[in-house]
Amino acid sequence: MDIIHSAAALRGRLQREPNNVFVPTMGNLHDGHIQLINIAKPRAACTVVSIFVNRLQFGPREDFDRYPRTLETDAARLKAAGVDVVFAPDEKEIYPERQTYVVEPSDLQYILEGAHRPGHFRGVATVVLKLFNLVAPHSAIFGKKDYQQYLVLRDMVRQFALPIEIIPAETVRAPDGLALSTRNTYLSAGERKEAPRLYGVLKKVRDEVGSGARDYQRLDQQAMAELARNGWQPDYVAVRRRADLRPPTERDRELVVVAAARLGRTRLIDNLEITLPAA
Ligand code: PAJ
Repeated sequence: MDIIHSAAALRGRLQREPNNVFVPTMGNLHDGHIQLINIAKPRAACTVVSIFVNRLQFGPREDFDRYPRTLETDAARLKAAGVDVVFAPDEKEIYPERQTYVVEPSDLQYILEGAHRPGHFRGVATVVLKLFNLVAPHSAIFGKKDYQQYLVLRDMVRQFALPIEIIPAETVRAPDGLALSTRNTYLSAGERKEAPRLYGVLKKVRDEVGSGARDYQRLDQQAMAELARNGWQPDYVAVRRRADLRPPTERDRELVVVAAARLGRTRLIDNLEITLPAA
């Protein structure tokens, strides 16, 4: 496994790799990331993973500074997972000058996560396009844990006709249901016990929709109220359609309930797909 820090060295190394698959990350890897690598590996001769904490996608009051940077343990995990190339650039390598050209995603960037994290998806799309240009993969894997991110990037690739297949991966959870996330490391022991409730309320919404409830706004409100009663500050719980995260119409069968809420200093997100039977 090669660990590469500069863009020039990466290009050099990948010149002899016409067949590569890419997994972008911000590091502090957990089993969710490793799953993406397991999906990637059989698809190409060369598996490339990037580790880069992208300042552009963090708001001014967000956790950029305290985001855990654990390159050594990450590298050991990636080696064990059979990764071929790790690209771990520093900030100057990705942003040698102020990034004035940016990718402006569709209106999808302003709702849900985007409404609570202004500029976030612009930052994500911009760095991912840049990483795509450096790695030139034929496929890239993204987790559905970040559902809106996956849709933003899928749409970017389609609209810019990038020759890259975007492959979604299911959310990996702890045995108690909590979606794995680097940000779980911020939770106190008490908060960690409470954290699976987020998945719990999503399952409740899914079950109620499964038993015929269609008043989505009431379900959203109920779920937010349950979180608030248990010490959370919910940003949103919302049943939406999977295709574009807009409110469902009566005809929509492919839905997803998405949620974001703060527990103490930690902001967690999760979602659960819901498929209605054909009418
Ligand atoms: P990061 O949060 O490190 O996540 C990297 C990838 O792992 C993303 O595709 C994310 O959806 C996926 N992932 C995270 N937790 C997961 C879980 N529990 N199950 C399955 N997949 C999971 O997402 C980012 O980094 C950044 O925004 C990035 C795309 C790298 C751009 O900076």
